[in-house]
Amino acid sequence: MTVQQEKVPTQQDRHVAWRGRSEQADAERTSAELDDAESIRRLRARSRRLLGSMMRPHKRSIVFLVLILVGQNVATMATPILVMYGIDHGIPAISDHDDYSVMVAVGAAFAACAILEYVCVRLYIAQSARVGNAMLYALRKRVFWKFQRLSVSFHERFTSGRVTARQSSDMESIREMTENGVDDLVLAGMNVVTITVVMLVIDPLLAAVSLLTFPLMLGLAKWFSRVSAVAYRKARETVAVLIVYFVESMGGVRAVQAYRREERDRDIFGRLNHENRFAQAKGHQQNAIMAGGMRGIGHLATVVVLAFGGWQVMIGNTEVGVLAAFLLYMKRFFDPLNELVQFYNVLQSATAALEKLSGVMDEEIEVAEPAEPKRIERPSGEIRFDDVRFHYREDQVVLPGLDLLIPGGQTVALVGATGAGKTTIAKLVSRFYDPKEGAISLDGVDLRDLGEADLRAGVIMITQENFLFNGTIAENIELGRPGATRERIVEAAKVVGAHEFIESLPDGYDTHVRKRGGRLSAGQRQLVVFARAFLADPRVLILDEATSSLDIPSERLVQRALRTILADRTAIIIAHRLSTVEIADRVLVLESGRIIEDGPPEVLVDSGGDYAELHRQWEASLV
Ligand SMILES: Nc1ncnc2c1ncn2[C@@H]1O[C@H](COP(=O)(O)OP(=O)(O)O)[C@@H](O)[C@H]1O
Ligand SMILES: [Mg+2]
Repeated sequence: MTVQQEKVPTQQDRHVAWRGRSEQADAERTSAELDDAESIRRLRARSRRLLGSMMRPHKRSIVFLVLILVGQNVATMATPILVMYGIDHGIPAISDHDDYSVMVAVGAAFAACAILEYVCVRLYIAQSARVGNAMLYALRKRVFWKFQRLSVSFHERFTSGRVTARQSSDMESIREMTENGVDDLVLAGMNVVTITVVMLVIDPLLAAVSLLTFPLMLGLAKWFSRVSAVAYRKARETVAVLIVYFVESMGGVRAVQAYRREERDRDIFGRLNHENRFAQAKGHQQNAIMAGGMRGIGHLATVVVLAFGGWQVMIGNTEVGVLAAFLLYMKRFFDPLNELVQFYNVLQSATAALEKLSGVMDEEIEVAEPAEPKRIERPSGEIRFDDVRFHYREDQVVLPGLDLLIPGGQTVALVGATGAGKTTIAKLVSRFYDPKEGAISLDGVDLRDLGEADLRAGVIMITQENFLFNGTIAENIELGRPGATRERIVEAAKVVGAHEFIESLPDGYDTHVRKRGGRLSAGQRQLVVFARAFLADPRVLILDEATSSLDIPSERLVQRALRTILADRTAIIIAHRLSTVEIADRVLVLESGRIIEDGPPEVLVDSGGDYAELHRQWEASLV
């Protein structure tokens, strides 16, 4: 596909970018952007399924990770109790009876906790990175395969910019989540529960007072999660629009410069950029309030515990050690929560990424590989359309019901006005799409029952797009028949008349074509593509305006080559220049998806129909 073919710079997208809002496909929506409960539930279920399928192969490792976190939790939760014991029992034992044993035991237990914590943290970091990487590796692979198998019509809907986003920024979000923060989340959860329970057991009254600030904290967290979801969504939306606009403007940079649109594009980009900055700033302000507020509440809780606990100690209701343990617990209670605030955004973006990726993974493969491919018994290249109905969009029928038999070896020319459905027929034969009704068969086998390899070897379509891959000319020709010798490659180039110009390039066949073949002219690219197709030697060759980009002399050259290329195979030629059509055995005139004339060119010229008229005009244009 060339840059122009990618859907990025459509008028529609531009319009959308101006409004600063993007119309997204269903697969693109995230739960934060939906408001009906049923869709949100389905979306969440879908992304949970994806997450589940990502985690399943690592079930044991994940259980192990949780156990490590439990160990870490035990180690950190035990130390305040040890401090309490040391103060309330260890010190009195020493001062009263010179008995060091309690203190030594407490010290040993403390050391054991420290070692346990060290081991857990170390194990966790190493192990979680391993699991996270493995999950990401598998996900990347799955998403790539899925995108590859999804049909052309999916890719027409789903712009390349979005494909890129799924494979880059969404993966990045998930990586960020797996790498840091999951442990904070799990630990914070465990801490809150453990601390509450332990405090209630040690001193219920003091515990109740300590937890007084809890509702305050919950309120703040609730406020934050609400407002930051909005701000965060806004920030993501604005940055997405910004990127789409950037890609679009740069993708069409030639057109932008040709029409002197720079200044206008700059203005629009500037505005979008500003919107994004504003949205980001708002998010940061909320972050600041949340982080500051959390700390404040943490300190307030400490003050409350200190004041009330101190008073309790003075009136003899509790011990100093208990107070010390409570103060330590307060710190352990609030510290991970502070970390969590930072993690919240990471979590949100990973959730959104997962929701979008799960949308892609759930896309149905429209043009699916057959479960049990059928083989072609006697290959001859016969194509048959049986009452084929086709449309891209429900409201616009392209082929209302096409019956057509092209015997093997025939060269058929398709002519008709722009939009008549010529390219659609070509794409259907190549199985870029499947018919909505009816069937298309190659040598008696429905295309839907034909294995991918058989189909690709059977049918090759050449269009104006003449795509060259990054690599040398020889490599590009070799794609037609991987593993072909240099002799065969040169021979193919000679047949299509590409040999001379290739030889004249600095490195001949080993010349690099650069990005999308940018080093060659359109005509030269087309000749390379012809050589590739000739080398592939398919039974059916389709040329859709394939020679339109050639100048007249090059076209003449290809014309001569065409007779050789098309000999012994079925060919469908779509062309505006009737010189190309003349070599056909049969001409089909198409109008609104219907065949209105069908016959050998010389017969049609004499019949006085549409083709005769076309032919007359063409002849007139020659003189
Ligand atoms: N990818 C597409 N999505 C929606 N409509 C399409 C698409 N491709 C073609 N069409 C529509 O189908 C009709 C036939 O198009 P096409 O087969 O390309 O015509 P032709 O090749 O004869 O010019 C046109 O009306 C065109 O607008
Ligand atoms: Mg066309």
